[in-house]
Amino acid sequence: MNAEKFHIEAAEALTVWYNSHKRDLPWRLDRDPYRILVSEAMLQQTQVERVKSFYARWMERFPTLTSLASASEDDVLACWQGLGYYSRARSLRKAARLVRDAGLTTLPPDWEFLRSLPGLGPYTVGAVCSIAFDLPVPAIDGNVRRVFSRLLDMPDDPAKAKGTALIAAHAAAILKLGSPHILTQAFMELGATVCTPGATCRCPQCPVSRLCAAKAAGTQGQRPAGPRK
Ligand code: ADE
Repeated sequence: MNAEKFHIEAAEALTVWYNSHKRDLPWRLDRDPYRILVSEAMLQQTQVERVKSFYARWMERFPTLTSLASASEDDVLACWQGLGYYSRARSLRKAARLVRDAGLTTLPPDWEFLRSLPGLGPYTVGAVCSIAFDLPVPAIDGNVRRVFSRLLDMPDDPAKAKGTALIAAHAAAILKLGSPHILTQAFMELGATVCTPGATCRCPQCPVSRLCAAKAAGTQGQRPAGPRK
């Protein structure tokens, strides 16, 4: 199948699948960029189930970016207590203060500005741009890497720069053919619930299994390939 057809069919199948299979998660109730940022910061090192209660408490305590910007570091760390990796909380507060100091009350749809903020790497900026602003900017985390390493049956480690660039190009092409906010979350959701690691993947339930090169080759259990020894 040529690349264009693959992108069109993947966008269609993933959109239909996500709309009927997505989990009800607290950060999916709206697409406010600040709320998306907080959820992604929490989800980076912590499981979904564990994040839920912390996210609810945080949003009660710091409902807006400006409320976070004016909070003390001690208050912010206390609210993060139990999630670990406290640099995430410190960076969130610093980022909120920089946005406020730039005269803004919320995050702008500006890739370069977002990328300049502390704690906002390519993954997080991609997630905010695509989920909150519907821009075709891919967000590539471990789950999304696994999905694409299988769809493309990538023989090399997809975490390397070359693999990441290849995945980003395919993901962006798919995002452009539909709603980026849906498709980005569809990639994440597929990796979290269906295209799971090793032999646990649930290919019979996968909306894109007929497009999957690893499934066709029977290599899905060996994808993603690890670093070369
Ligand atoms: N993991 C990382 N981001 C996520 C999101 N937005 N929803 C569910 N799981 C995720």
